[in-house]
Amino acid sequence: MKLGVNIDHVATLRNARGGSFPSPVHAAFVALEAGASNITCHLREDRRHIKDEDVRLISRLTKRLNLEMAANKNIIDIAMEISPRSATIVPERRQELTTEGGLNVLEGIERYKKINKRLRSKKITVSAFIEPEERQIKAAKDAQFDFIEIHTGRYAGTIDQKGMETELLKIKASARYALDLGLGVNAGHGLNYENTYDIALIDGIYELNIGYSILSHSIFVGLHKAVKEMIEIIESAEPPVIKR
Ligand code: PXP
Repeated sequence: MKLGVNIDHVATLRNARGGSFPSPVHAAFVALEAGASNITCHLREDRRHIKDEDVRLISRLTKRLNLEMAANKNIIDIAMEISPRSATIVPERRQELTTEGGLNVLEGIERYKKINKRLRSKKITVSAFIEPEERQIKAAKDAQFDFIEIHTGRYAGTIDQKGMETELLKIKASARYALDLGLGVNAGHGLNYENTYDIALIDGIYELNIGYSILSHSIFVGLHKAVKEMIEIIESAEPPVIKR
């Protein structure tokens, strides 16, 4: 299982003083160097953290960019221009602190189908950030997404053991269902150094997208080490390779 690192909050810190430091581009390369498979940037409609120049520059320097975005014409045009490796479509509300909940693909299958057709014409892999629900997964298949990203926020936000187990089972069953439909499966949101191991045990998930916990930990240990420690957790959940 791979790790994609979301670097939005490097831009949050930079924007706090309106200058150019710390640089999200620098952060992207430290994370890749530490073993991240992908860099995620969420270019929000209000540009509260990542800016157009950030994604333009990162996409010029590496192909390993996952552009997280609302299904908004202006942002889709930017995606068409910079052609990231993948685009993850998320719902977006101005007032939210972070993405809250998954996309309602079911209510917009034909609209997403058109968007996906456009993005796929540039060989961009399209992913839908959705709740672990069969009806949304089936809708994502019908809308011709390549991947789903399962929203792990409810799992991460549950504090009692029983509730976490229930959420884990939902995520596991959803991953299985999506794989059986021929969709690729990623997962993310709210994952940290305590709750990622159990998600990494789930068979068939391709990549975990993690941001806030890694960047928070990086304040104390540095970004390279923070990324490496998360990769170690993910890899420790993998069965050992038996050489014959
Ligand atoms: N995946 C998606 C679709 C997200 O919106 C976010 C948050 O921007 C993440 C993953 C990463 O979440 P976190 O920052 O809580 O690790």
